[in-house]
Amino acid sequence: MRDALSRFCTGVAVITAVQPDGRPTGMAVQSFSSVSLDPPLVCFCPARTSTTWPKISAAGRFAVNVLAADQEELCRQFAVTGGDKFTGVDWRSGVNGAPLLTAALATLECELADVLPGGDHLIAVGRVTALTPAERLRENGPLLYFRRAYGRLGPSSPAASAASASAISSRSASIASARSRSEA
Ligand SMILES: Cc1cc2nc3c(=O)[nH]c(=O)nc-3n(C[C@H](O)[C@H](O)[C@H](O)COP(=O)(O)O)c2cc1C
Repeated sequence: MRDALSRFCTGVAVITAVQPDGRPTGMAVQSFSSVSLDPPLVCFCPARTSTTWPKISAAGRFAVNVLAADQEELCRQFAVTGGDKFTGVDWRSGVNGAPLLTAALATLECELADVLPGGDHLIAVGRVTALTPAERLRENGPLLYFRRAYGRLGPSSPAASAASASAISSRSASIASARSRSEA
């Protein structure tokens, strides 16, 4: 099953929140998805074993930071357990207090609306309360995750052209620098 699922290409997001003591926390996810436009709902699936999820859950609000093609290292930093994942990371507080990662492709601030059982994962549903203002949106392509490796859109992709012909330059390669997803 893992092999079949690994062939479903996704973007990557970092879910962030602030702990009661003010320290930021976060985790990388590929399970982020839109759920509903009216009301505005999104979801992601934290593993029951995640040590970051209980902190996000306790905060009751979080931010979804959609990663851009040049944020692979940032993603790796948020895909480890323990340590200060925010070391060297540029961020600002959102309207709801959750950390918004600078240079993310888009950010969505959410209130935790529901948590549903999902086997060895949970399904966390968030109600979107704020979005990155349009003028702050970056013209860049997304970071992709496919078959346990990171990648970016190729230059001939219509989606890449729409994002930015200049940002998706000759650097754009196919899937590169394989890295096993820590939970896979
Ligand atoms: C590309 C990528 C996608 C991931 N997607 C998820 C996910 O959807 N759900 C999840 O629980 N963990 C996911 N992980 C693993 C978490 O990022 C990682 O287990 C977590 O940050 C570990 O730290 P924690 O114990 O602090 O939660 C993903 C990792 C990577 C590299």
